[in-house]
Parts: sequence; structure tokens; C-alpha cells
Amino acid sequence: MKYPKEYIDEIKTRLKVSHVVSKHVQLKKRGKEFVGLSPFKNEKTPSFTVNDEKGFFHCFSTSEHGNIFDFLMKTQNLKFGEAVKTLALQAGMRPYTFSKADEEREKAWREYAGIYSHYVNFFHNELLNNSDSKLSLNYLKNRKLSLETIKSFKIGYVKKNLNLFANLEKKFTKKAIKECGIFYFDEKKNIFIDRFRGRIIFPINSISGPPIAIGGRIMEKNSFFAKYINSPETQFFKKGNNLYNIDKARALSNKFEQIFLVEGYMDVIGLNNNGIKNCVANLGTALTDKQISILNQFFNEIVICFDGDESGYKAAVRAAENSIKELRPEKQITFLFLPKGEDPDTYITKNGKEKFLNYHETNKILIHEFLFENLKKQSNNSPTSLAIIEKKLRYISGSIKDQYIKKYVLDYFLGKISQLTPNLSKGKKFAIKHVAALSETKKIYNESISISKEQLQEFSILYLVINNFNFFKNNSNLLIDLNFITTDGIEVLCKLAEIIKSNDEINLDMLPIEKSMLEKINKFASVKHISKNIQRDENKLREIFNEMKKDLKNLFLDKQIHELESKFSKDMDQTTLNEIIELKKLQNNN
Ligand code: UTP
Ligand code: MN
Repeated sequence: MKYPKEYIDEIKTRLKVSHVVSKHVQLKKRGKEFVGLSPFKNEKTPSFTVNDEKGFFHCFSTSEHGNIFDFLMKTQNLKFGEAVKTLALQAGMRPYTFSKADEEREKAWREYAGIYSHYVNFFHNELLNNSDSKLSLNYLKNRKLSLETIKSFKIGYVKKNLNLFANLEKKFTKKAIKECGIFYFDEKKNIFIDRFRGRIIFPINSISGPPIAIGGRIMEKNSFFAKYINSPETQFFKKGNNLYNIDKARALSNKFEQIFLVEGYMDVIGLNNNGIKNCVANLGTALTDKQISILNQFFNEIVICFDGDESGYKAAVRAAENSIKELRPEKQITFLFLPKGEDPDTYITKNGKEKFLNYHETNKILIHEFLFENLKKQSNNSPTSLAIIEKKLRYISGSIKDQYIKKYVLDYFLGKISQLTPNLSKGKKFAIKHVAALSETKKIYNESISISKEQLQEFSILYLVINNFNFFKNNSNLLIDLNFITTDGIEVLCKLAEIIKSNDEINLDMLPIEKSMLEKINKFASVKHISKNIQRDENKLREIFNEMKKDLKNLFLDKQIHELESKFSKDMDQTTLNEIIELKKLQNNN
């Protein structure tokens, strides 16, 4: 039985090839690609390449070639179904169970995508080739769109009196045409009517490419009709799960760190028309978690660039409050507010790419800064309004999933509030120090992407020990049951534990630890930015140390679970499964 294409595509889009491969082969980035030693052959010089953009690996010495599923099948000796199971799990998806209903859904999907493709191609050709469509082609040309742009987005024009329903019926079932959302039924006239008639249409593609919905714009100004309408939600099109242009933009994720998130179809198209290809639109709805996580999957920085009017500002606040939850150390979300009255399309069409990028460089604002500034604007510095702000800010930082980011963002907020209230005990100095720590941390985090999560965590723990010897001498029980994973980390930890036990005089300049290792610890221990503030507070130190110990244990369990899961996908053995369940319980209790 075949897995539905959508399910397979969803796995592919959630997992970069390099992520999957790097669990088995050590990869190095080289230009757009990654290279490593071939898993198919013993070799000294790397001939194995991975290209995330194209979604495949290629081995030059053995000519092995394929996607993530092929990779697992070939290197781990899995059957296709097993590879799908393993990767679905890795992608955080539910295992697929087949049923009669699935078969039908698969069939329905093929027909659905077929109808949209047929419809989109037909009216795109009409726009380009039929003289009846001159008016609409001129409309687009007046908006400065090049022919190349019009073609690349397959923009079309649906003539008022051309109903494609009968034509589609030659190829597709009436049921599928009725359900695809392009037509609605007019009870009085007893016919199906094309909801996009008389409109310029913009196909909305699924992340894997085929069109699954349409947006349509009227050309007249101040018409009685809505300016834009979209396909209704169907079983294959859910607005909040899609982004306009994600199919093309994600293929560029190796070239760009950033993705511009804008409001409208024409914003994406206008940016593209001027050479900015890394952009998507959220289809006129409130930004959803799902949309953020799709973008996070491919890009390190999301630049939210909404219209320079009040509704754009409000949408930005909502987007910020919602998306800050997903902030992670290696990811950034920034905001860009255009001058009043402009949207990304009008701005770039008037000013060009360079000006747009310059404007971005000088005006972008980090998400937490924006949220603070927004609330500050609403305050009149009275005790009640300050209290409300602090409460809201605590609530916002509390919603952040990543523990480190949560800490630092709260720190930033409190620092900023204390600037507003200089008479409160902590005063200005405190705040400034903390703000600096945040941006510094961010920088280190960016540098540290090449270092594993486990290493980072171990560095922080070692840093605390090295810088608080006396504390750990009196609290050596804290060092019991530390789940160190890396051999370097274990070695240093053992040496430190020995010194602590020995009662010898400690000379920080003469630690028996390799210099390069010490340097790394000092550079990458993220805890160093808060460690100065906790050094004199033993309870705080203990609390933070225990938290880090817990996090490390979680990573340790994650790793074990992961290894067992790939074992399980091969042996399907009940004892393996039981072990996994036990470990997951341990993790839940941690
Ligand atoms: P805008 O009104 O800002 O349009 O709506 P725009 O992108 O600037 O388009 P042009 O330049 O006037 O052609 C932004 C987005 O909001 C949704 C659409 O997705 C649109 O692209 N929208 C807008 C609707 O769904 N319905 C509407 O009536 C208006
Ligand atoms: Mn516009």
C-alpha cells in the first residue's frame, strides 16, 4: 500500500536532508552543499554530498543517490515503510495507519490537485495568450510586473463569461469539482458559478509545489465586491497551515538566513519582481504557530514586515505575542515597520531592492524589543499602568518554550522596567548590564551552532564548577549523578571532581585541563552571562545548577531514546519498545 504523497511530502518538508544524514555521517558545509565521508565506502577524502535545496544526497565515489528515505533504506538497511516510520517519528508526526479511507483520500487528493493544476494552467495561458485578457495583462504591467514574474507565479485571469465547469467534467468527477471550492452553486439559476470570475488569480501552492487554492483580486477600484477572495478551506487546504510562496521560498533556504513574512500576495510578488525571492505571505489571517514552525524549519531569521498602517501594526503585535513562544537560541524573529501608507510592494516598487534592504538594516527591531516598546507606549508611568505592563511582560516571557530564552527575555524586560522606575532598589546599572548580556548571548549562540546541545550544556556546568570551587567543595553532592555525554566533558568533570575531593589548594591558573578545552568552556558556556549575578547567592546558584543538571539529563535520555527508536525500527522487538517506554517515563518525571 502506498503512503499518501501528502504524508511523505510532509515528512520531507519537516526534515532537511542534512539533518537526517548528519545523524549518521559527519557533514561539513561547503557552499550550498554539505560534504562528508561516504557511508557507502571506506574513504579518506569526502566524496559524499548533501543538497538540502534539491532534497537529495549524492555519493560521487559509488554513484549512490536519493532522498531521505533512500538514505535510511540504503545505510540502515530499512524497508521503505520502516524508513517512513523512523523519519515520521523524527519529524514529530504520528505513525501512519492505512485504511480504506486513506486509499480514498489519496485518490481524492490526486484529483483535487489535478483540478487546481488544470484550472490554474488554463487561465494563466488565457492571460498570456488571449487578446480578451489584454486589460488584465495591462493592469499587471501597470503595476510594474515583468512577464517573467507573471509567469513564475502563474498569475491568471478568469474571464467573466467562461465557465470551466463543463470542461473539467471531461477529466474529473463532478463530486471532486463541486468540492474543490472553485465553484459555488447558484440555487436560483441551478448552475455552478466560478467564484473567481472577473478576477486576477494567484495560485496558492502546497509546500511541495502543486496548487491547492486560489486568491483572486478584482481590478476595479472601490468596487462593491471584496478586493480579494480566497478559496474556501477544504480537506486539502487549511489556511493557517499554509503560506503563500512557501514552495519556492523554502528551496532557497540554503542561500538565505532570512525569510521576509509579508501580508499580501502582491507584496510577495512585488518583492520577487524586484529581486527579493526569500519571502512568503500568511494569506490575510492571523499568524499561526504552525506557520512559524514551518518557517523556523528552513530559516534562522523571520522578518515580519507588515503594512505601515494601523491594521498592519495591530497584526504585528498579535504576531509578536504569538510567535515569541517559538523563539529558540539559534532562531531570530525581527519586525520591520514601513513608512506610513506603504506596504512592501509599494515601497520596493518605488524605491528598488537596495533601498528596501537598507531600510530593513536600519529599521529592524528584535521581537522582544518591539513587544516592550509597544507596551511602553501604552503606559503613562503611573504605578497601576506599570504594574499592568510588568504583569503582561512576565506573562509573555513565561509563554516562551525555550528555557534559556525565557530567562534572558524576562531579564531584559525587568531591566527595561527598572529603567522606567529608577527609584526602585535595583536601579539603572542592573538593567544595562542585563541588556548587554542578551545581545552578547545571542552572538555566542550563533557562533555555537556547530557545537552540539550536549556539549553546550556540559560547558555551562563545567563553567559553574570552575568558577565556584569553594561552593562545590561544600556541596559536592551536587556533582553526583551528572549525566555527562561527551568524552571530553567527562574527562574534565572527573579531573575537577578529584581536585574538589583532594582538599588541595586550588590554583585556577594551573588547572590540569587542556587549554583549548578551557577556552571553549569560557567561550561557549551560556551560563557565564548570568553567573556573575548569582555568584554571591548560594541558593540561586544551587537552583540554576540543578536546573542545568535536569536539562542535561533530558538530553541524555533523548539520546538514548533516539538510539533505541532506530533500533526498534529495525528489530521491532517488544523489549526494545519497553525500554523506550521506561526511558520516556523517566523523562517525564525529570
Ligand atoms: P491588502 O488590502 O493589504 O492588499 O491585503 P495588498 O496586498 O496591498 O494588495 P494590492 O496591492 O492592493 O493588490 C493584504 C492581504 O489580505 C488579504 C489578501 O490575502 C491580501 O493579499 N485580503 C485583503 C483578503 O483576503 N480580502 C480582502 O478583501 C482584502
Ligand atoms: Mn499593496
